[in-house]
Amino acid sequence: MKKSIGQIKAEALEKLQSAPDLESIQALSIRYLGRKGIVTQFLRNISKLPPQKRPDIGKEANEIKHFLDAQFREAIRRFETEPSETDDRIDVSLPGRTAQRGYLHPITQITLQICDIFTRLGFDIAEGPEVEKDYYNFEALNIPKNHPARDMQDTFYISDAIVLRTHTSPIQVRVMEKHSPPLRVIAPGKVYRCDSDLTHTPMFHQVEGLLVDKKVSFGDLKGILTTFVHRMFDDQTSLRFRPSFFPFTEPSAEIDILCVQCRGKGCRICSHTGWLEVLGAGMVHPAVFEIVGYDTTRYTGFAFGMGVERIAMLKYRIDDIRKYFENNFRFLKQF
Ligand code: PHE
Repeated sequence: MKKSIGQIKAEALEKLQSAPDLESIQALSIRYLGRKGIVTQFLRNISKLPPQKRPDIGKEANEIKHFLDAQFREAIRRFETEPSETDDRIDVSLPGRTAQRGYLHPITQITLQICDIFTRLGFDIAEGPEVEKDYYNFEALNIPKNHPARDMQDTFYISDAIVLRTHTSPIQVRVMEKHSPPLRVIAPGKVYRCDSDLTHTPMFHQVEGLLVDKKVSFGDLKGILTTFVHRMFDDQTSLRFRPSFFPFTEPSAEIDILCVQCRGKGCRICSHTGWLEVLGAGMVHPAVFEIVGYDTTRYTGFAFGMGVERIAMLKYRIDDIRKYFENNFRFLKQF
């Protein structure tokens, strides 16, 4: 025998130490302990030794065989259960990475709610440009140049003939130019006025409504707006129609709702009147119908407009309109 069993053992352990992967450990196991393995051969050759040496060497060789067998098994087990750094198996027990959830801006949410109520009542959605012709914003709505009604709205002028729309009412004219009656549309959008305080921002949102058909009456306007207010707030919220003036409607009204806070008793929110103004409305002025070429003897219609921020402030009890535009994530997340 060339090598002692002790040398074989040391050599096998050294090779096992530096074995890089599972395959090389399995190959080593076969090389030493397989049927033609180095340790197996050694044991077989013991019979060729002088009889008095056999028991001691035999015992040592057998112990080493079992020891190496245990070492190889342990190394194999460790490779199979402990993933290495290069292991690309997926640990399905790890918690997932949670994605940040997005939120709709409260003004968007209220706009969608308003549009939803009206589309269920058969209204279509219409849109128009924010940079608008003076013609659509004023002229076609029966507000000629130098008309005192232009002072009601602090207009941003782009040029003599182009403005940032001060209300969504120009969409009424654009819709009527393109479509003949009967029609029912709702038009949400941004509007601009040179004004800024606790309840006004230079940009805010309105939703416009327009319904034209034969025999449309002020009673229909009342019915539609009552349904709207009841669905938007609740059906205990009464409405009050106050005579008012808009050049493009006749008769015109401003609509108040019973104060959402004090229910008419009087509080800070309603300036102790018990009522809150939420809408402007009226029957479409015949002058507007004439401009778009509608037959004023056959058709009548009503129009209304409301401020989205105003409705959102009342619904969520927010007293400063600017909160909606400061982009404070903690504020926006509440809705
Ligand atoms: N456009 C008006 C405003 O901004 C509101 C309104 C719309 C009034 C439609 C009557 C009819 O104040």
